[in-house]
Amino acid sequence: MYSSPESFFLETERFLLRPWKSSDYPNFSRLAKNPQIMRFVNQGKPWSDKRIRSFIHKQEKLFWKEGYCRWVVEDKIKRNFVGLCGVGVFDPPGFLEIGWWIAKRFWGQGYATEAARCALEHAFRKIRVPHLKSVTNPVNKASIAVMHKIGFQQKMSGFLGDYLRSPKYLPIVTYSLDNPYLHSSPQK
Ligand SMILES: CC(C)(COP(=O)(O)OP(=O)(O)OC[C@H]1O[C@@H](n2cnc3c(N)ncnc32)[C@H](O)[C@@H]1OP(=O)(O)O)[C@@H](O)C(=O)NCCC(=O)NCCS
Repeated sequence: MYSSPESFFLETERFLLRPWKSSDYPNFSRLAKNPQIMRFVNQGKPWSDKRIRSFIHKQEKLFWKEGYCRWVVEDKIKRNFVGLCGVGVFDPPGFLEIGWWIAKRFWGQGYATEAARCALEHAFRKIRVPHLKSVTNPVNKASIAVMHKIGFQQKMSGFLGDYLRSPKYLPIVTYSLDNPYLHSSPQK
């Protein structure tokens, strides 16, 4: 639907946000098997190799079909893998969600916020998605801080089971934002 994955990228001051390549597997695998990264993603449990491959495949398909995905975040100068950030499908129930994972050694330097602002701008301005949510555990203060910094507001507090997912009684908070480019009053 959009340009080829090899030539497409988004740019921030420090990063490139780009589609996935098969060579991202080892770097992403290190993240997805790190209990500190997975603490609020999968209750600290590592993803299997199969799930890691399936995630990458899903991002490739999403990019081709919709023009967005959970982008690879790459350092612009060193060209190393910093993490991921972008829009995916929170399934079930199937709404669009923005999310972020940053490698532990880079935490606390504004990386997630910088990448999220860029992914958000692309999703709202270029793709024109009407609305985005972001879901996390209420204890994940770093992720909630990113949500606040990019303008999201809390809409719901409940349990993962409310979205028909397990573990049913895992506490979650849902933040959201409407696309301001679609909802602002027309210019005269
Ligand atoms: C969430 C995550 C992506 C944040 O990455 P990051 O690059 O460190 O984020 P930023 O530096 O842009 O912003 C983090 C903010 O959280 C704040 N923060 C961090 N820990 C905090 C805590 N325990 N309490 C309150 N605020 C906290 C930081 O101070 C910072 O805010 P500030 O810039 O106003 O000081 C990173 O912690 C991560 O990858 N976690 C594991 C994966 C994950 O949980 N992803 C979200 C799944 S829903």
